[in-house]
Amino acid sequence: MATDLHQLLRSLRVWDPEVTELPPFDPGAAPVTPLELFTEWFAAAVAAGQCEPHTMSLATSDESGLPDVRIVMLHGADETGWSFASHAGSRKGRHLAARPYAALGFYWPVLGRQVRVRGPVSAAPSADAQGDLHARSTGALAAALTGRQSEVLGSVEELVRASEAAWERAAREPDAPVPSWTLYRLRAEEVEFFQGDEARRHVRLRYRRAEEGWTRELLWP
Ligand SMILES: Cc1cc2nc3c(=O)[nH]c(=O)nc-3n(C[C@H](O)[C@H](O)[C@H](O)COP(=O)(O)O)c2cc1C
Repeated sequence: MATDLHQLLRSLRVWDPEVTELPPFDPGAAPVTPLELFTEWFAAAVAAGQCEPHTMSLATSDESGLPDVRIVMLHGADETGWSFASHAGSRKGRHLAARPYAALGFYWPVLGRQVRVRGPVSAAPSADAQGDLHARSTGALAAALTGRQSEVLGSVEELVRASEAAWERAAREPDAPVPSWTLYRLRAEEVEFFQGDEARRHVRLRYRRAEEGWTRELLWP
C-alpha cells in the first residue's frame, strides 16, 4: 500500500555513515582531463568495495525527442570515448540511430559520488564490436546470440528454446559472429563530477570540451 511505501521511504536515508564514507574532494587539484579524474574515481569506487561500479544509466531519446533510460555495462573509457555494447535493433539502438547523442550516469554510493557524461555517440567498426564480445564470457555471447532484444516475446518457452540453442552455439563456436551486436562510443562534450558532503556543500565540478583541452567550472549544488 502507498502508506507502507511512504513509511518505508521515510525510514531510509542516503549516505548512512555505516556504509558511506564521504571523502574530501579538492576541485582545485583536479586533473586537466575528465578521463583522468574518471579513472581515479572509478579505481577508488572499486577499492571502497562499491558493488557493480561498472554499471551505468544510459539515457537516449527517440525520434520525437522523448527520453528513455536503462542500465548497461561500461566496456571501456579512453581517448576514443566511454563505450558500451548492445543490439542495433533494440530500442536504444534505434534511438541512437535516429539521434546519435546520449548521457551516462554513474552512482557510487559508498563514496557519495556521481558522474554524468554527455556527448555524441558513434558505432565502432564491426570488428571491434565482435572482438569485444568474443573476449567476454560464454554467457555474454549466448545472450547476444539470442538476439531480438526489445521485441515483444510471445511466451517464456519461446525464450527458453532460443536461449538454449544460443548457449549451445556459444559453447561450440566461441567466435560466432553477432551482426547486430554494436559497440557504441560516446565522445564526451561534458563530464560532471559530484562529491557529496555531510553539510550539503556538495562539490560539483564540470568539465566542458573546449577548442583545445577542457574548461573546468564549479556548479552550485
Ligand atoms: C546490471 C545490468 C547490466 C546490463 N547491461 C546491459 C548491456 O551491457 N547491454 C545491453 O544491451 N543491455 C544491458 N542490460 C539490459 C538493459 O538494461 C535493457 O533491459 C536492454 O538493453 C533493453 O533496453 P532497450 O529496450 O532500451 O534497448 C543490463 C541490465 C542490467 C540490470
